[in-house]
Amino acid sequence: MKTIIEPFRIKSVEPIRFTSREERKRILQNAAYNAFRIHSEDVLIDLLTDSGTSAMSSRQWAGIMEGDESYAGSPSFFRFEESVRSITGMPYIIPTHQGRAAEKIIFTILGGKGKYFLSNTLFDTTRANIEFSGAEGIDLLCPEGKLPSVPAPFKGNMDVKALRTRIEALGAEHIPMVILTVTNNSGGGQPVSLDNIRSVKAVCKEFGIPLFLDACRFAENAYFIKLREEGYADKTVPEIAREMFSYADGCTMSAKKDAFANIGGFLAMRDLELGIRCRNLLIITEGFTTYGGLAGRDLEAIAIGLQEVMEEPYLQYRIRSIEYLADKLVAAGVPVMQPAGGHAVYLDAKAFLPHIPVDQYPGQSLVCALYEAGGIRSVEIGSLMFGKYDAEAQLIPAALELVRLAIPRRVYTQSHIDYVAEVILEVFNNRAQLRGLRIIEEAPLLRHFTAKLQPV
Ligand SMILES: Cc1ncc(COP(=O)(O)O)c(C=O)c1O
Repeated sequence: MKTIIEPFRIKSVEPIRFTSREERKRILQNAAYNAFRIHSEDVLIDLLTDSGTSAMSSRQWAGIMEGDESYAGSPSFFRFEESVRSITGMPYIIPTHQGRAAEKIIFTILGGKGKYFLSNTLFDTTRANIEFSGAEGIDLLCPEGKLPSVPAPFKGNMDVKALRTRIEALGAEHIPMVILTVTNNSGGGQPVSLDNIRSVKAVCKEFGIPLFLDACRFAENAYFIKLREEGYADKTVPEIAREMFSYADGCTMSAKKDAFANIGGFLAMRDLELGIRCRNLLIITEGFTTYGGLAGRDLEAIAIGLQEVMEEPYLQYRIRSIEYLADKLVAAGVPVMQPAGGHAVYLDAKAFLPHIPVDQYPGQSLVCALYEAGGIRSVEIGSLMFGKYDAEAQLIPAALELVRLAIPRRVYTQSHIDYVAEVILEVFNNRAQLRGLRIIEEAPLLRHFTAKLQPV
């Protein structure tokens, strides 16, 4: 059959609230033109993030009832540990309350002034945790990853030549880790090929630098490898995932993505000494080693979700439903990052709104317009999120000005997605009327979460 259907039935539903355009104009103004400040009850279709927003399966809810809340040695922890180990093959598995808690632990231990962490693209919390430790994060994305409108199969790849040059320039002793984000969230949800993982590992090995995966979307990445990389069509997703992890010395994971959990994460590694140091810090900051900031019931949901996410009918539907939205937009001439990412469609705001200069945040202007037109919440991934200031307080813009429409897993149906496309097209047809924004209040780190803005 041609039609790829949602591979589930709906057992429980959540109503969504409709608002008028006038109400939404007022809401936007009260939220200081920052979508993070909008109450979720005022949002019709929430594409702010795919993180922690998945619908859990009946098996996961059943697992929640099995959760054992013992402080130490809970069977829920051992089921969680076994599930993670079966995928990563890593011996030391440390639960955390979410991905950034795993980042905080590892970068507190390995970071610090004078250290550099090299990546294809660091996610914002990863970069913030690195910088908070005093270290510096450097993105070395492959050239094709920087061209939003040019399709290529693995635009999340790291530039291996640039990796070698940087290591030689900085000195391997100052680089505690190389991190590959799979899929590359901030670079458009684009996958990393196994060939690239292997080549990056070879360089890391030559210089004695550990390779970690930021594995939030490992299953989506594995499925792209199955679809696009020669020699993997007949391999199963668990086989591909195991091969991906086989080249890594460790990983950080937010279970709020490819584990269908509403909360949770983990840190896993092969090195015993590093594992002990991480566990010691875990006990101070998160909790005892067999729960690490999570309830036993959460550990159960993650253990089950990690296996469910690798089921191919799910991944086929997941990847196709994102592509479906991107295809509709491309057909209408909307500038979209191509090909579609694994968890989101990314609008190219610079091309969408060429009349708004980057220091007036075209991406954020588009985020506001989508909310006003149709109650859709999205997020800017551009100079509001990643912009920095130079010594003269002039904006150093981000490499790309994107708006991400992240699709929560197993939550919205095809008609919701058709509606989203219709709203985007309406905004596109009226784009000449949109204006830029200026920041009137901002925090020194991760400013996009709380900044206040005003139309120019
Ligand atoms: C690639 C990537 N790394 C790390 C994180 C941080 O995870 P968490 O939100 O669970 O702290 C995210 C979250 O969106 C992410 O997408």
